Amino acid sequence: MKRRSVLITGGAGFVGSHLVERLLKRGDTRVTVLDKLVYPGRLDTIPRSLRRSPDFRFVRGDAGNKKLLGKLLKEVDSVAHLAAETHVDRSIISIDTFVRNDFVASAHLFEALVGSRVKRIIHLSTSEVYGSAQKVPMDETHPLAPQSPYAATKAGADRLAYSFSETYKLPALILRLFNMYGPRQHPEKLIPFFTTNALLDLPLYVYGPGTAERDWLWVGDGAALIESALFIEDFAPLIGQEINGGTGKSFSINWIAERILARLGKPKSLLKTHKDRPGHVARLIARSTKAARLLGWKPARRFEQGLDETIDWYKDNEGFWKTRREDKRFKEYTRAWYGKKL
Ligand SMILES: NC(=O)c1ccc[n+]([C@@H]2O[C@H](COP(=O)([O-])OP(=O)(O)OC[C@H]3O[C@@H](n4cnc5c(N)ncnc54)[C@H](O)[C@@H]3O)[C@@H](O)[C@H]2O)c1
Repeated sequence: MKRRSVLITGGAGFVGSHLVERLLKRGDTRVTVLDKLVYPGRLDTIPRSLRRSPDFRFVRGDAGNKKLLGKLLKEVDSVAHLAAETHVDRSIISIDTFVRNDFVASAHLFEALVGSRVKRIIHLSTSEVYGSAQKVPMDETHPLAPQSPYAATKAGADRLAYSFSETYKLPALILRLFNMYGPRQHPEKLIPFFTTNALLDLPLYVYGPGTAERDWLWVGDGAALIESALFIEDFAPLIGQEINGGTGKSFSINWIAERILARLGKPKSLLKTHKDRPGHVARLIARSTKAARLLGWKPARRFEQGLDETIDWYKDNEGFWKTRREDKRFKEYTRAWYGKKL
């Protein structure tokens, strides 16, 4: 069995930590995480048992730091580029770090990859690059119409990856994953925010009418899709392609909020209407037949089951979310966004 060596940028984030777990479980892969630990990135998002593996290495630094990359790219055969700032609300409060971390860092990473020995690059893009569904389900030919500053910087990085595959023959594949959820997601994000608010008997703030719908993808299924692209025998046909990853079903924010309250035995009086997010995307729903055809991938977990498991995980893992909610940056965000420290 030929051993592989994968660099995961942004590997100390939510999705990255699940990808680390999956790759280490294989037993044939050395994993290097390059992460700047910009808020909300924290090394302890990766469970300690994984960090102790002899096949795991952590390097703190920017995904676009060419000096650092000059060394690291000599030691790996594949790169999964996940590093990004990811909170839409925060990108509306201030765009600067999103341009730097999502767009500029990607540009510098792709430049460093040109001429390197790396044979596969998986660029993690997002369904947010499409904006609200103009047709359903949304396939990869859907127009790109990002509606938030976060989505726009991600769309820029997505197109940069494509342009590098065309101009420099960079072996890059673009995966556009829909909304991921599951254990170890930061409590600023919707499902953990609602769940931990409910556990604390705090309001669940629903934007506008609560009818916005997303295609919710279990994070383990998202990590499995990245893994299948990293390990597929013949990568050449995938270069320069965009591939969606979603379930083909969508659920509204109201539905999720009510399910969380019901599972935790909390009253509906905790539901509070909040002014709608500017530029809020109304609906995202994936067509993922290309992933099935080219990568043999299909999501395994139904949202109803995954959501219940996620709610239970937060109930049982107070240590994870309490420390994150106590961070002064979490308090500053809730004060700026909801008008009170939560
Ligand atoms: N979570 C989702 O629903 C979802 C859906 C589709 C795509 N994605 C994409 O997946 C990737 C990971 O998302 P996530 O939910 O794990 O986010 P996250 O915010 O939990 O993690 C992102 C990580 O990237 C690191 N980072 C940010 N900028 C960096 C830089 N310049 N250099 C090095 N590290 C940097 C952070 O420290 C953090 O650890 C992102 O690219 C995101 O756009 C996420």
